Amino acid sequence: MNSTPEADWLNLLIGLLQGAQLQLLRVLDALGLAGQVHGQPAWPWSQRLSGENLLIDLGQARSLAWTLVFVAVALLALLLALLWRRPRFYFLAMVPMLLIAAPWPEAHVVLVPATPTSFQASPTGFTAASIAKGRVLYEQNCVACHGVDGRGEGPLAASLAVWPPNLSGPLLWRRADGDLLWRILHGTRDAQHGRATMPGFGGKIDEPDAWALIDYMKALGAGQSLRALGSWPQPIGLPDMAVRCGSQPPRTLASWRGQRVRIVAGNAAPAEDPRLVTVLLVPPSPTASSAAADCVAQSAAAWEALALIAGTDRLAGTQLIADRDGWLRVRGEPGNTGWSDDDLVCRSERTTAAGQGAALPADGLGALIARMDAEPVRFVKGGFIH
Ligand code: HEC
Repeated sequence: MNSTPEADWLNLLIGLLQGAQLQLLRVLDALGLAGQVHGQPAWPWSQRLSGENLLIDLGQARSLAWTLVFVAVALLALLLALLWRRPRFYFLAMVPMLLIAAPWPEAHVVLVPATPTSFQASPTGFTAASIAKGRVLYEQNCVACHGVDGRGEGPLAASLAVWPPNLSGPLLWRRADGDLLWRILHGTRDAQHGRATMPGFGGKIDEPDAWALIDYMKALGAGQSLRALGSWPQPIGLPDMAVRCGSQPPRTLASWRGQRVRIVAGNAAPAEDPRLVTVLLVPPSPTASSAAADCVAQSAAAWEALALIAGTDRLAGTQLIADRDGWLRVRGEPGNTGWSDDDLVCRSERTTAAGQGAALPADGLGALIARMDAEPVRFVKGGFIH
């Protein structure tokens, strides 16, 4: 969705809003003014600033950007008034004028309801183990309403006042993780009458459980999208897992962040490629004399997590490539001999338009890598764009 020339400054603006509020919360916490909730500092207000609507309303986004400039100049004028005695009056007079002249955006566009955990970040590191833990909890607690595939068509769904949402849609990515956590633990209410629409699970599960559920639901949603649409419209990270390279001590996939990583599921990896770190993910019960590769991952949880994200029961032979930021971008299906444009399954709109489905030149992988690098994934949380 980063097709517009506005994407860069919008991304910056939204990042700034998020960062400023997070810093404010840290300062409040350091001063002892923020309570604690679910193990992290609590957001004390019922609203917060959000970029969600700015993406739809560019005019308001511009107003906000200009307002920030005006406020910054007003602060500068205040500072100068403090430091410089003679022209103090003029500087002071400028402050209210600037604040009145600023094109303030409409409050309902930039303010959204907040929960005490709105700014909490997941501590799980999106690991394969956490996804596996989430799967068990999901089957025990959520499947009756949300359904095995997360589309909201579980056996209980039809009897509810509100239909559960489709978890493979953009919902999980639009919401801040912390807001998802709050709703899982405390339930949801309908905006009009305040009636409970989903029960809270805080009495049955704890925070680490809820974070694991969020990881699982994202992986499930990604796999369902890939099955239905052939793409990941919402970016999904490469789950972290333990990897062993030769006789070196085990390390994690995340320790290669900053490099491109290719996961090859099966018993044999293709030739090493200097542009990528190649890791062979062997099935939980490998055939004898397998694992011919420099770096190997082997755990049932890792195999399951990647099968879930790739939306397939037969993962063997699949290749997945993550970009330098750890987002999964490219999928090669089993039996693929060359690379085609369709293999770039997490892409921005700009690349969608160009020659979709076309076979790539001999070094097709190089072309895919170049595209992947040229179009990084944007912020995706709380209205952040892809
Ligand atoms: C009794 C049925 C029921 C069960 C059980 C249930 N849900 Fe829900 N869930 C719903 C309904 C209905 C909604 C839609 C609520 C609304 O929009 O007001 C919902 C919404 C959600 C949302 C979206 C919240 C948002 O921000 O809009 C998430 C996430 C979620 N459920 C996760 C879970 C998880 C995780 C579990 C298991 C621990 C679970 N649900 C169990 C019925 C259920």
